[in-house]
Amino acid sequence: MFKCVRTMDDLLQVLMIRAIVFMEEQGISQADEMDGHDLAAVHVLGVMDKEPVACGRIRYQGDRAFLQRLAVRRAWRGRGVGSELLHFMLEECRKSGFRRFELHSQTRATGFYRGHGFMPCGEEFMEAGIPHVNMRLEDDKQE
Ligand SMILES: CC(C)(COP(=O)(O)OP(=O)(O)OC[C@H]1O[C@@H](n2cnc3c(N)ncnc32)[C@H](O)[C@@H]1OP(=O)(O)O)[C@@H](O)C(=O)NCCC(=O)NCCS
Repeated sequence: MFKCVRTMDDLLQVLMIRAIVFMEEQGISQADEMDGHDLAAVHVLGVMDKEPVACGRIRYQGDRAFLQRLAVRRAWRGRGVGSELLHFMLEECRKSGFRRFELHSQTRATGFYRGHGFMPCGEEFMEAGIPHVNMRLEDDKQE
């Protein structure tokens, strides 16, 4: 159900999900959503019954993998799709040798990431007009 994007068609489906969830549902501007990093990122797409339902973006910086733009279309939420997406993204990072993961969680979504071992660090800050918290997960620290 999840795959790393390798075609323009898949990338367009990712951008459609982001337009629906972040721009339409959450009111984030096009300029904030399309931040210029998409062409150099790894994108993940989740498809169910031929519908694009979930997506996420990975950017590698130094020894850290940054997980960004995780989204599940509203009608598919609350049934484990987001968790499967996060697992897939983490495994993809691990396959590339990364063991340190970082993300900016919308403050209202920290419970979701906490449930997967991420811990908040630092003060709340605003990003794209929405309160966020920096969260980290390190494989070594879980052992
Ligand atoms: C956050 C998001 C990706 C979660 O996807 P989902 O498919 O609903 O998540 P799941 O069904 O896998 O939920 C897994 C667990 O996290 C919890 N959870 C989900 N969203 C949550 C939230 N916003 N806050 C707290 N807990 C949350 C669920 O209750 C569930 O807990 P359980 O296992 O004890 O039942 C989805 O709500 C979404 O796309 N939101 C809009 C976009 C967004 O805000 N993305 C995050 C940007 S940082």
